[in-house]
Amino acid sequence: MLLNKHIIVGICGGIASYKAVELVSRLQQAGAVVDVIMTEHAEDFVRPLTFSTMSHRPVYSDLWEPSGQAAERHIALAEIAEALVIVPATANTIAKLAHGMADNMVTAVALATKAPLLLAPAMYKEMYMHPATQANLALLRERGAVVVEPEVGRLASGAFGPGRLPETSVLLGAISMLLGRKGDLAGRKVVVTAGGTQEPIDPVRYIGNRSSGKMGYALAMEARDRGAHVTLISGPVALPAPYGVEVHPVMTALQMRDAVYNAIRNADALVMSAAVADFRPLEAAAHKIKKGQGEFAGMPRAAGQAERDADGFPLYLTHNPDILGGLAAQLGQPEGGIQLQRRLIRVGFAAETDDVLAHAQSKLVAKQLDLLIANDVSRSDSGFGADTNKVFIFHANGAVEDLPVMPKTEVATAIWDRVVSLLGMA
Ligand SMILES: Cc1cc2nc3c(=O)[nH]c(=O)nc-3n(C[C@H](O)[C@H](O)[C@H](O)COP(=O)(O)O)c2cc1C
Repeated sequence: MLLNKHIIVGICGGIASYKAVELVSRLQQAGAVVDVIMTEHAEDFVRPLTFSTMSHRPVYSDLWEPSGQAAERHIALAEIAEALVIVPATANTIAKLAHGMADNMVTAVALATKAPLLLAPAMYKEMYMHPATQANLALLRERGAVVVEPEVGRLASGAFGPGRLPETSVLLGAISMLLGRKGDLAGRKVVVTAGGTQEPIDPVRYIGNRSSGKMGYALAMEARDRGAHVTLISGPVALPAPYGVEVHPVMTALQMRDAVYNAIRNADALVMSAAVADFRPLEAAAHKIKKGQGEFAGMPRAAGQAERDADGFPLYLTHNPDILGGLAAQLGQPEGGIQLQRRLIRVGFAAETDDVLAHAQSKLVAKQLDLLIANDVSRSDSGFGADTNKVFIFHANGAVEDLPVMPKTEVATAIWDRVVSLLGMA
């Protein structure tokens, strides 16, 4: 998404300007062409040399460059920009932008460019909450600027409150989303599931699986970066919520099923990459099962007592509903089933450890899917926890694609490419 994109990063005189160094570095590493422009006061905090070292390009801060090129510089930058990102945006610069001032390189480029504008305000909380700053931000939002809200936390002043610049990963997500606003999924609503479910045995224990959520999160971010409105229904994972994605956290398979059936009613596509537990304890114990005590999870007490031996106790499991299979069955019903507002492209994942191809083919048919992504999770370069995946893509028309091992981000791209062409046919 960022590859070869021309991004202008405007730096203002705020204490968080040092964090913009990492942002510029990450943008450059992602393949973007980054031109840094600075206000005069930004140079009081970080020297231009630091930014030019990271961007591998000159840094511009003087609107009145003595070389004579200055007259065109801010116009040239304004014209070439695909996005203007002001990080950190000071209260002062926000006020200037709201009122159309153009008295330095940052404000002049902002006024001259037609590129989308992203602002990441960072300041002392009273400055941020001040009605003037809030009114200025509201005005800029009204004109189409994207404002990445500052985080609540400990500020440089020692105070606690809103005003912290968000993490670089959040800013990168916001920039990618901004650049992809008019992508091939613009105007589409998609639902993605991710992670594994946790099925409680008692209040502290659960049955889970090794799903990291990486594939589902990559799918959600890729769809966001192609312009979709994304609902991400996520089991518990150790990944940060992606910027600009509507995240619905769930714990169990039953919760995931309800969240999915609710979210798909007006969606264009559903991609189920979550590893949903096939079984759950029949009944979760209300209190923590104590070592050596006669509490039984998932089974009637009397039956448990009979089965119990000196070293342990049996755990009774029951089947969880099959979310995609259940959906296929409900959609076939003339009434009482789930009512969809439009044709829903359905994509399933099959995590297999043996006979991957045969299992995948039968799942595709049984669940009436448009696409089934099959991966062999017994390989170290594929499936749970890995950053790469080796998948086969099964199509409803019988075609099968054998993709090479690739990063999960690229697998996500391949999957959405196919969904986009299916949407084109729908
Ligand atoms: C040590 C110090 C830290 C500052 N930190 C911030 C800040 O985090 N956010 C902010 O909006 N202003 C901050 N200011 C105030 C701005 O530097 C000041 O308003 C300046 O005029 C901003 O200029 P610029 O918007 O052209 O960069 C700080 C000032 C000082 C002296």
